Amino acid sequence: MTDLAKDTSDPFQTAYKAARQYMSSLDERSVMPDEVALRALKGLHEPLPQMPSLDVSVIEQLGKVGGAATVATTGGRFFGFVVGGALPVSIAASWLASSWDQNAGSWLLSPVAGELEVIAGQWLLEILDLPRDSAFGFVTGATMATYSSIASARSSLLNRKGYDVKQKGLTGAPRLRVVMSEEIHPTNTAALGYAGIGLDQIEYCPVDAQGRIIPNKMPELDDLTIVMLQAGNINSGSFDDFKTVCRKARAAGAWVHVDGAFGLWARVSAEKKYLTEGVELADSWSVDGHKWLNLPQDSAVYVCRDHAAVHDVFGVSATYLMKDENRQPNNFTPELSRRARGIEYWAAFKSLGASGIASIVERTCGYARKFSDGLESAGYKILNDVVLNQVVFIADDEENSRRALKYIQDSGRMWLGPTTWKDQYAMRISVSSAATTKADVEESLAIMLDAYNITKLN
Ligand SMILES: Cc1ncc(COP(=O)(O)O)c(C=O)c1O
Repeated sequence: MTDLAKDTSDPFQTAYKAARQYMSSLDERSVMPDEVALRALKGLHEPLPQMPSLDVSVIEQLGKVGGAATVATTGGRFFGFVVGGALPVSIAASWLASSWDQNAGSWLLSPVAGELEVIAGQWLLEILDLPRDSAFGFVTGATMATYSSIASARSSLLNRKGYDVKQKGLTGAPRLRVVMSEEIHPTNTAALGYAGIGLDQIEYCPVDAQGRIIPNKMPELDDLTIVMLQAGNINSGSFDDFKTVCRKARAAGAWVHVDGAFGLWARVSAEKKYLTEGVELADSWSVDGHKWLNLPQDSAVYVCRDHAAVHDVFGVSATYLMKDENRQPNNFTPELSRRARGIEYWAAFKSLGASGIASIVERTCGYARKFSDGLESAGYKILNDVVLNQVVFIADDEENSRRALKYIQDSGRMWLGPTTWKDQYAMRISVSSAATTKADVEESLAIMLDAYNITKLN
């Protein structure tokens, strides 16, 4: 039996060593975990331990079995979904913040979390060039950022009609409409549902060849409409025409929300900012930190012009919750107790500066271009205008694309996934990890070229 009083082992040292080993193995290890690692993972199923174990042995086991069963998204050759890596400084900040175990719900419970959230939020408004006096909240991901924005939109639009949704609930409320593109990311639909807005309330709008909403094919807008736009289509990386749509919406009294999960970061780059022209005219925005900014997972921000609506939705008062001149984080988010996400933003902004973030965006967009040029000259067909970090492509037909993708994934040296683009099976690259280097791109391109040549055999 283990006597915990005698457990003098240092789990922090063990975790640090395992993390370091993991990071230095990224170049050699398979991007996806192998069969052996997945079998060992299943081996963790055991009856509920009745007796304690040494902390260090728990962490050792986690490092060994868990580390082998990870997907190497923090490496340079993971191009699947739109995930992003994790900057060393943001991991280190997250470690330190976790060791403080601060509850970021209230300023009093954690002045450091409360204050760094204010600083990081203001820096975020500046770097994304959004209205500087907007409200913002630090949430888990773009899905919750969109939910938070939609809940605020609902409150604002209904209040303008003299209907207090907080008091009366949705039953009997004026009917809200939602206008969004056929190409909208599915989490937006989910977020609407969380806010009590059903699928029958959505009016889909046709899109062009790049997945952009066609403004003159939009239904008439009115003052009970929420328009959902995209900064960064999940496949093509394209941007909606914010200027035209926001002007129409403003004239009609409609609310515009922009899902900018990854694409809003294009705004930090002088080269790419033009893609986002007019986005600042919207009413609310969602953006992930855990994608292109390369923060650890569980990190996004919503931004909303309308403080009153945010307060109506999230303002919480209880006698035991302190009220003072400080910004109370829980008055801006769906949760009360939560981790101090703003700390990682602060560390990334401070370490990279605006120019460093712009250089991640520009570098990864440059790599996407290099991929598309290389793939095209090898015989692949590129299906999108490569304006950002996304490349959608096929090898002649579906059968060959599937064969090529299998070869690419089986290589273990890189990973990208399939998608459906304009009803067609295709492959998709997202270059969103700050860890990706020119050498990673060249190695990955060589694998993809071999994959294409294999499809030509027999
Ligand atoms: C365009 C877009 N919107 C929304 C989301 C959802 O983001 P999250 O997973 O952070 O909730 C994603 C995630 O891939 C996305 O790419």
